[in-house]
Amino acid sequence: MKAVILGTTGYTGMILLRLLADHPDVDEIIPVSSSRFGQPAASVDPGIGKAIEKKQGLCKGNLVTLEEAIAMKPDVVFAGLPHLESAKICQPFFGKSVVIDLSADFRIKDHKLFAQAYGQEPPCPELLPQSVYGLCEVYADQIKKADIIANPGCYPTCTLLPVIPLAKAGLLKGKIVANALSGISGSGRKAKVQSLFCERTENTCAYLPGQTHRHFTEILSQIATFDSGLDLFFTPHLVPLKRGMEVTTVVDLAKPVTNDEVLHIYQDFYGDRPFVNLVPGTLPETKNVWGSNRCDISWQVQGSTILLFSVIDNLVKGASGQAVQNMNIRFGFKETAGLSLYGEL
Ligand SMILES: NC(=O)c1ccc[n+]([C@@H]2O[C@H](COP(=O)([O-])OP(=O)(O)OC[C@H]3O[C@@H](n4cnc5c(N)ncnc54)[C@H](OP(=O)(O)O)[C@@H]3O)[C@@H](O)[C@H]2O)c1
Repeated sequence: MKAVILGTTGYTGMILLRLLADHPDVDEIIPVSSSRFGQPAASVDPGIGKAIEKKQGLCKGNLVTLEEAIAMKPDVVFAGLPHLESAKICQPFFGKSVVIDLSADFRIKDHKLFAQAYGQEPPCPELLPQSVYGLCEVYADQIKKADIIANPGCYPTCTLLPVIPLAKAGLLKGKIVANALSGISGSGRKAKVQSLFCERTENTCAYLPGQTHRHFTEILSQIATFDSGLDLFFTPHLVPLKRGMEVTTVVDLAKPVTNDEVLHIYQDFYGDRPFVNLVPGTLPETKNVWGSNRCDISWQVQGSTILLFSVIDNLVKGASGQAVQNMNIRFGFKETAGLSLYGEL
């Protein structure tokens, strides 16, 4: 299995480099960089040590150009690139390799909704019908056959995993109020004043509240697939963590239910899926999933309202880990291959 990484010097690209270096079914990694081609791949991440040496193939351990990567005919392409650029840059691979796009370019099929969220038409609209939303625990059957996989955003992953089973069961009504806390790596590695240590340390704020964040559209359109009567207020917050995401979701119940009945709904929906960890009776913490591909979920019924709590590592289950999980499902590898079930202490 030959795997290309596009955008290797970005955060999701760097995590992909580490995950694929440890993946038992990936023989060759082709790391592409538009800014640092020709340099050793290990210079992007000295912490990776010698791990990628055995998988360097024709690249000889160096970052390569897009053109060189196309000529190497990869089986799978991971695109850790900015929205609105990604689909265009991936074009030479469509129809030849399986493309797993970590950007939003294929996540919203409705052109108008995409334009509302991203300010322009989707970049490759003709390919949208072929793409599958890569929320692994929900769409595995479609992912198995897909050649374009739209890897979900971190906020949507953490919000949707606790909500979808309950929405599908007809248990929710009215407005879903989701408040999300994100680590700073969620906004990428590119230098920005707002991401500087002095701006973010000892500091927390909400941003793009209610219905204004671009992930609002992605989350609501997925919820609508299971219950079109539900509405959403989604407010993200930046917290002074490098990595990690917590979402607290509050929504009214359509009918009375107990905490045990909710547990059974989740168990029926997720079965023995390895990366959803139900932790009833606790309040999940980001440190427990740091570095793992897990989403920990708990809930509390309080009268006619249910509170949902979910945590992920934004760079793993929220991005590169879920992308590898998508590859595993698509190519019939063990779903957990190359991925950690445990957070790092
Ligand atoms: N960070 C997260 O937690 C997270 C979670 C879910 C989804 N995502 C999505 O995943 C994608 C990558 O995110 P990221 O956090 O890794 O971003 P990032 O750290 O900013 O890295 C993006 C990389 O893309 C390449 N790039 C940038 N502009 C380019 C251009 N115009 N043409 C070609 N290559 C370009 C650069 O790598 P080279 O110079 O090496 O080419 C850059 O380092 C984004 O769409 C993001 O929204 C991120």
